[in-house]
Formats: sequence, structure tokens, C-alpha cells
Amino acid sequence: MKILIVGSGGREHAIAWKVSQSKLADKIYCAPGNAGIAEYAECVDIKSTELEKLAYFAEKEQIDLTIIGMDAPLVAGIVDIFEKKGLRVFGPRKNAAIIEGSKAFSKDLMKKYHIPTAGYETFDNPDKAISYLKNSDYPMVLKADGLALGKGVLICQDFEEAKAGVKAIMKDKQFGGAGDRLVIEEFMTGREVSVLAFCDGTNIKTMTSAQDYKRAKDGDKGLNTGGMGTFSPSPYYTEEIHEYCMNHIYKPTMDAMKMEGRDFVGILFFGLMLTEKGPKVLEYNARFGDPETQVVLPRMKNDIVEVFEACIEGRLEDIQLEFEDNAAVCVVLASEGYPEYYEKGYIIHGLENFKNKEGYYVFHAGTQKGLDGIVTNGGRVLGITATGTNLKEARKHAYEAAGCIDFKNKYMRNDIAKL
Ligand code: AMP
Ligand code: GLY
Repeated sequence: MKILIVGSGGREHAIAWKVSQSKLADKIYCAPGNAGIAEYAECVDIKSTELEKLAYFAEKEQIDLTIIGMDAPLVAGIVDIFEKKGLRVFGPRKNAAIIEGSKAFSKDLMKKYHIPTAGYETFDNPDKAISYLKNSDYPMVLKADGLALGKGVLICQDFEEAKAGVKAIMKDKQFGGAGDRLVIEEFMTGREVSVLAFCDGTNIKTMTSAQDYKRAKDGDKGLNTGGMGTFSPSPYYTEEIHEYCMNHIYKPTMDAMKMEGRDFVGILFFGLMLTEKGPKVLEYNARFGDPETQVVLPRMKNDIVEVFEACIEGRLEDIQLEFEDNAAVCVVLASEGYPEYYEKGYIIHGLENFKNKEGYYVFHAGTQKGLDGIVTNGGRVLGITATGTNLKEARKHAYEAAGCIDFKNKYMRNDIAKL
């Protein structure tokens, strides 16, 4: 098969690597890809937001299967455009990707179908939001309704902060049109767990659990980022919690989408908080998580292309997902200053040490081929994943590897998977 992957981050590198292991994959393309993905795939210079161009490319090259890694093209309807041309594509249609594209939609869905989540109110008018916040308990959570690169969530400690947040999101449009509506949510506490699941419109099969580290600095301090590291499995996600989530969250979400005429085919990502009152949904995403994918896929035993095909053909029931009985840890190497201002263009040393080294994976995010080698080209540069028989061993391996790769202004957290 000829397979096209759409995206350019560590997640897409992990997907490209996993697809390259499939006996069904003959040729892999990635648009736009990056310097690491280029090892497994031919990178094509089309942006993931150029939907028509991507469909034209897939048609011209007779691509057998396209896998969409990122949220924005899904929410914009890339799957519908491909399907109209008779092209096979893995991901939810526009009317199902809305589960990530609109927080107001997902909160209303959960409320209607009694899926456990934080209490909330939705506002289209900033002044009404501010009057509501005057009489609220704090902390309180503000969420821009639309996509905001994972940055549209503000946790406010008092009314003054909340007022400034409403202004930034709804009046100053810090996240553009994503801030036309605002969800104000009750603050929850507990451990966070990410669970990714394959869906075929009717059936849902979950993958192994993971935990993400969103803040920039050790001890969960600093600004929110796209993710500074992750590990899998989460020791807090017990069999009992899994059963509960299957019956009260995962299956009910699939059924709810079906009832609404929005059959979900693709990856459904459940961001959960394990609260004192049980697991609750923090957010849904309509795609693989990043960096979660960088620890989940190295542990997956199945041929992933077979699973994609089963989802598209509505026969996920026949598939038994299997994961190694080990652990994986991913430490993100970033450019100093990320998620704010950072420099790029510095040569990365030491990458050759991990080429085809069993149990080690260097997933590229912001990298580029320079004249003298691979150079940094983004805030998050590399995801260094290592496996081990348990989390402690995987952590040791990941940090050893992270120490062997170097570039100017390299920055990482030192407490990933330190439980
Ligand atoms: P989201 O993009 O919705 O996952 O939110 C980003 C992060 O904000 C989450 O991973 C949580 O750490 C935090 N967060 C979101 N919603 C809540 C909430 N209701 N209570 C506490 N923390 C939250
Ligand atoms: N790691 C969280 C996300 O992919 O949105």
C-alpha cells in the first residue's frame, strides 16, 4: 500500500515509524514531515492546512490510505474532502471532529448523555461571563471554545484574574475566533491520565494509558506547553478504573456520537482526571495525543495499518489490541525559552548513537536538515523515548539517552516519570 501521513511533529514521526513496521506498507509519504520522518517517508512540501492540495496529491499519487495526525485539518473537514474524491482516509469527519473543535459542543454532549465531567456554563457575551464570575468560587477554569494550540485553557485564582482572562479570550481575541465563545468550568483536582482509543463508528478499543507533563518546568511549574514528556502505562489507572471508564465514559461517548448522527471513526483521546468522586473527562481530542503517542506506539504489538483498515471498514470488533508488558518514558528536548521566545538553527549532536538501537526511539518534532547536519527548528525539538521492564528502568534509559544528545540551548524537565 501507498500511505500518506499528514503532520510534522513527534506524534507523526512515531506514527510513521509504526507504519513503517507494517507488512502492508510499501511506500510512505508525509506532508510536510520533518528531518526525522524523512528516514521512513518521502516528505512532501504541502502544509497540513492545505486540504485541497493534499487531496489532489493523494489522488495523483494513488495513495491507498491517508492518516491525519493533527487536529486543525480534521476540524476543518479534511476527511470529508478526501471521501468526496473516493480516497481512503483515517480520521473523523468534520461533524465528528467537532468533539475536539468545540468545547461547548463536547460539554453539552457530556451533559446530555450523563458522562462525568466538571460542571460548566457557556457564554457568547463577555459581560455576562464577567457578571457570572463575580459570584463564583475560585479557582475557576476558563476555556476558549475552539482550537487554540492547547493554550486556550486558563486556571484563574480570583475574580481579577478571571476578568483579565475573559478580556484576553473574548475581547482581545488572543486565540482568534476560538474565543468567540467561552466555557467556564468548575476546577477539579486529581491525577491526570490520557487514554487513546481506536473507533470504527460503533466499536471502541482503548490503548494502554499514559500521563502527560504539560508545564514547562520541574514540579509542574511554569507555562503550559504542548507537552514536555510522558510515560506509559500510568500506575494510577487501575483495572477497576478502566472498567468504570469503559462503562461510564468511553462506550457512552461512542454511543452518544452515534445517537447524534456523528459516528466517530478515528482516534478518540480521553483526557481524564481521577478525582475523589471518580474519573471525569477534562477534554476530548479527535486524534492521537502528542507526546503520548511517542510512548504508546512503541509498546503496541499490532500491525497498526491493519487496525486503521479495520476502523475504516467498521470491523474493529475483530481486532485484539495488544501491548508489551513493559513501560516507556519520553523526555522532550526543547529549545531554552519555549513556549515563549527561543532561538533555532543549532546543530544537533549525537543522533547517530540511537539509530536502530533497540528500546530507544528519537522522535523528531522541530528539526530540519541543515548544510552541516540536522538542526533545531522549533520549540520542542526531539522526543527521546526509551523502554524498560518497568517505569524506573525506562526512565533511567530515557534520561541516559537524553544526556547523549546535545544542541545549543537544550532544555528538558528532569522529573518526567519521577513518581
Ligand atoms: P485541556 O486542554 O482542556 O486538557 O486543559 C489543559 C490542562 O488544564 C489540563 O490538562 C488540566 O491540567 C487543566 N484543566 C483543564 N480543565 C480543568 C479543570 N476543570 N480543572 C482543573 N484543571 C483543568
Ligand atoms: N498531550 C495532549 C494533547 O495531545 O493534546
